Amino acid sequence: MRIAVVPGDGIGKEVVVATLPALDLLIQAFGLDIEYDVFGWGADEWLASCVGLPEGAVERLAAEYRAVFLGALGDPRIPDMAHGRAILLGLRRGLDLYVNYRPLALEHGEVHLYRENTQGLYVGVGGTVAEGGTTRVAIDECVYTRDTVRKFVRFCLRRLSQQGLRKVTLVHKSNAVPNTGRLWQEVFREQLAAYPGLMASEEYVDSFCYHFVRDPSRYEGVLAPNLFGDIISDIGAALMGGLGLAASASICPESGFGLFEPVHGSAPDIAGQGVANPHGAAMSMALMLDHLGHTEPAAVLRRCVTEIARTAHATPDLGGSGTTDRFMAATIHRMNSEVPTEKLSERKSRPR
Ligand code: NAD
Ligand code: IPM
Ligand code: MN
Repeated sequence: MRIAVVPGDGIGKEVVVATLPALDLLIQAFGLDIEYDVFGWGADEWLASCVGLPEGAVERLAAEYRAVFLGALGDPRIPDMAHGRAILLGLRRGLDLYVNYRPLALEHGEVHLYRENTQGLYVGVGGTVAEGGTTRVAIDECVYTRDTVRKFVRFCLRRLSQQGLRKVTLVHKSNAVPNTGRLWQEVFREQLAAYPGLMASEEYVDSFCYHFVRDPSRYEGVLAPNLFGDIISDIGAALMGGLGLAASASICPESGFGLFEPVHGSAPDIAGQGVANPHGAAMSMALMLDHLGHTEPAAVLRRCVTEIARTAHATPDLGGSGTTDRFMAATIHRMNSEVPTEKLSERKSRPR
């Protein structure tokens, strides 16, 4: 099983470098059949050679890899984020990773946000007309196909019911954006027919945001089109206690390919200081291990990183006095005591 590791830019690199030793430990302790290669895609490569995602990269990933573990992209030297769109949106669209799962661990329990990840306002259809002239028209189209909405909604409802959830909310804006809004509502209602036990509601995104901040315990499963889901992710992260905590999985249910990355960006305001919170990256790694069928190693990582997040080893955003490295070193120390020792020795004595 091969994994492509893409540290990216800014604190993306820092949290990936800090969390990889946790993966190494789990591979060794549980004898996991995982190997990874690191790819330097990001701002430096873009500035040096104008290459974002190298030609053939998507095809190679699809053929030879099962997953991507990504830090974050974004660099102040590239203010329009052209490289980030090429790499991140290139991977999401190129590999058809249309389900973006973002679990939010809140005070009352978990809210499971499912964001459509390939279409909507992110399709890249549009342009600027008469640039430089006196008139100027800027267009970014919002495009949804029935096929994508249907396979997204169908997958999410199946997952939600497997997760034992009882409530599902569709977030939309069909009052002001009626065409795609109506498509989402129609498909949602049609697919719900197979789940009579689920309590379903539809909420305008503005009203949803209001209620979500005031009382997140109203929600269990949330389905959202691309841009709404992006914005709700950061609100959810704030409710969790910070952007550094939130994890995400972008998957293509048909191929089984997944891209796992923290919700946060490259955070230029703290990059280089060694204080980025690696929790979201570690939790994304746990989502990746789950996805690959390694639920026990995932549980160990999740439990230990969450425990250390409550100690002084945690980074300043969580009220600790630790650094990115110290946070992960303490997590790995804890993991060492949780990993079954017979597994460690079994592994060591087995010829490779
Ligand atoms: P950001 O998520 O990078 O940072 C927002 C705020 O949260 C900052 O104050 C930052 O210091 C803080 N923060 C974020 N992650 C943190 C962590 N792990 N630990 C502690 N604090 C953390 O958002 P931004 O500043 O709007 O964007 C910076 C760049 O990242 C932009 O270029 C943007 O396009 C890009 N971006 C990339 C991704 C991604 O690669 N998935 C996601 C969001 C933003
Ligand atoms: C995210 C990010 C990306 C998005 C940006 C960097 C294109 O904000 O993963 O949440 O909007 O999807
Ligand atoms: Mn975002």
